Amino acid sequence: MTTTPKSAPPFWVAQTKQLIRRRYARLASTDAFQPDPRTKAIDAGCPAAWYDALPVRAAQAFSGCGWPAGDLDPAGLQTVIDLGCGGGLDSRFLAERLSANAQIIALDLTPEALTRARDTLTGAGGATVRLLAADMESLPLPDGCADAVIANAALNLATDKPAAFAEIVRVLRPGGHLVAADLVREGPLPPEILANPMAMATSLGGVTEEAELLAMLEGAGLRDISISGHCPFGPVMAVSVIATR
Ligand SMILES: C[S@@+](CC[C@H](N)C(=O)[O-])C[C@H]1O[C@@H](n2cnc3c(N)ncnc32)[C@H](O)[C@@H]1O
Repeated sequence: MTTTPKSAPPFWVAQTKQLIRRRYARLASTDAFQPDPRTKAIDAGCPAAWYDALPVRAAQAFSGCGWPAGDLDPAGLQTVIDLGCGGGLDSRFLAERLSANAQIIALDLTPEALTRARDTLTGAGGATVRLLAADMESLPLPDGCADAVIANAALNLATDKPAAFAEIVRVLRPGGHLVAADLVREGPLPPEILANPMAMATSLGGVTEEAELLAMLEGAGLRDISISGHCPFGPVMAVSVIATR
């Protein structure tokens, strides 16, 4: 069972996205993404040596549940989309690994997150990073434009996940990869989360069971899907998702 209504009424979708925007605007503007971001980032897979060399402000920007930028082989990548880039730490890591003629499209629903990502990206060398305010469920990008799509703790926030996965498939070139860190649950969500109207915005209300996630990825047309690296994350599990278009 998912907490997202099967055919969500438009006002539910609009209100949920507004709550998500408000929450991440507040977190981005107050630098309150995570307590102890260093431990969280390194536990999630971010290399300690790279993290410790970051400017202080960039180092505070982690709000993920894994480290998809590190799971992606940068060789030959020309265009990478970072869905729900938040404070932009994955985009910075990748920018430093891609060639100067490559581009990263760091995309977020929340304009304040993009303002924060611009600070995080200050001084990063390598690829050009283009900041884009947009909804991952309706991407203002052409078909087949990306070699890879990454997403760190963002897919679970989509109010219409099949639409988000269909968009990922549309913008990936054939053979391109989705590399994501996300959350799955075993069984129903705890009643206190189900009863919380903020649940979608706090990343827990939209978490699906692993079988449901797999079915949505397959249904979108992705292949060679792997969901691995299960790691407890509050009442749910963080996982690494890799799939090919
Ligand atoms: C938990 S944060 C993760 C941020 C970043 N990826 C990281 O690892 O630090 C989730 C981000 O997804 C964004 N988001 C939520 N729903 C979205 C949507 N439908 N389209 C694009 N971004 C979205 C939020 O604004 C927020 O910045």
